[in-house]
Amino acid sequence: MKENTLFVEHYRPTKLDNYVGNENIKKVIKQYLDQDDIQNLCFYGPVGTGKTTLAKLIVKNLDCDYLYINASDERGIDTIRDKVTSFASTASFKSLKVVILDEADFLTINAQASLRNVIETFSRSTRFILTCNYIERIIDPLQSRCQTLKIVPPSKVEVAKHLAWILGEENISFIVDDIKNIVNQFYPDLRKMLNTIQLSIIDNKLSVDKSVLVSNNYMNLLLKELKSKKVSLILTSPPYPGINIPYSRWQIHGRRNTTLPYLILGLERPKIKSIYNFQNPTNNTFDVYFNTMRNIFSSLRKISSNKTLILQLVAFNNKDGVFSKYLKTMEECGFKELKIKSNGYIWRKVPNRSWQARLKGNIPASNEVLLLHKLK
Ligand SMILES: Nc1ncnc2c1ncn2[C@@H]1O[C@H](COP(=O)(O)OP(=O)(O)OP(=O)(O)O)[C@@H](O)[C@H]1O
Ligand SMILES: [Mg+2]
Repeated sequence: MKENTLFVEHYRPTKLDNYVGNENIKKVIKQYLDQDDIQNLCFYGPVGTGKTTLAKLIVKNLDCDYLYINASDERGIDTIRDKVTSFASTASFKSLKVVILDEADFLTINAQASLRNVIETFSRSTRFILTCNYIERIIDPLQSRCQTLKIVPPSKVEVAKHLAWILGEENISFIVDDIKNIVNQFYPDLRKMLNTIQLSIIDNKLSVDKSVLVSNNYMNLLLKELKSKKVSLILTSPPYPGINIPYSRWQIHGRRNTTLPYLILGLERPKIKSIYNFQNPTNNTFDVYFNTMRNIFSSLRKISSNKTLILQLVAFNNKDGVFSKYLKTMEECGFKELKIKSNGYIWRKVPNRSWQARLKGNIPASNEVLLLHKLK
């Protein structure tokens, strides 16, 4: 076969003309390529929809030296200091250098912070292209140093045409319904579609095994499954009151985030920024924390039966006010407590994180408690 046997690599477009969809962004990029220079760019959008492809396409079509880093493998500040800085500061025959930081949302906050200076220091000769799934995981000062461009998945029809074209190039015969099913199943993830197609080729024919196409929409399937009250054990460790974390989203299928708790309740899904405020640390009332908690646990109640057991580990800085409010909120959500010990709870001291201990001294850590609940 050709130089790269994987469809995802072999058919990764290297020219703007072959890049499917995103006409507006292509116009912007075309202008840059015509000038042979780019701004710092940050592409964000769903998995497998062409962010890495676009970043690589750009450096291939510019007269530049480039460095590619997958930030999900190299997340720390050392990468920025060692690799990026040394690349940017080394003399080169080319007038332009480009650093691709793929999956930059995996960079640690410290690494992101140090990147801001690097971008500024080398702004004369070096450009940066960041890609990420979630733009809100990129710190604001970095976002403001880049032109942020949202990669919108190409339409289902465009994707289906693209897949049909690839099969034509490979002389594979197929029926259109098989392509439709694959697109419906995996949209918008082109990587999944291409891999599925490649694995489904037998004797120059596309033969799609129906079992890979479980349902047109796994979210709906999961929702149906959950609502049929089959969940018997829920293990969870909610964010401790006082910690800013996106808990109102659940993770399914690896890195896919979903606001499933809100779908279960039939509520409007929270806006991307507000989901971080499971408890907004600037607001000492804990309103946001307890409202979010109510939504999450009310949705857990909807997928629970009489047999369901909820076991959670959650920590509190002080055992009094907030803890009793927490227990009361569980009750309001329709759960009753099962006492593990007749004479109280099982607590453990949570050790301080080392950076916190360095900052604040050896203050007492928070207390974590084991809680068991069933439906009332
Ligand atoms: N717009 C597109 N036009 C043509 N092919 C595409 C396009 N987008 C994606 N593909 C194909 O899908 C594969 C996966 O795309 P890519 O690696 O760019 O996804 P990604 O957006 O970077 O995903 P992730 O978020 O998982 O990193 C590519 O190798 C390419 O073959
Ligand atoms: Mg990518």
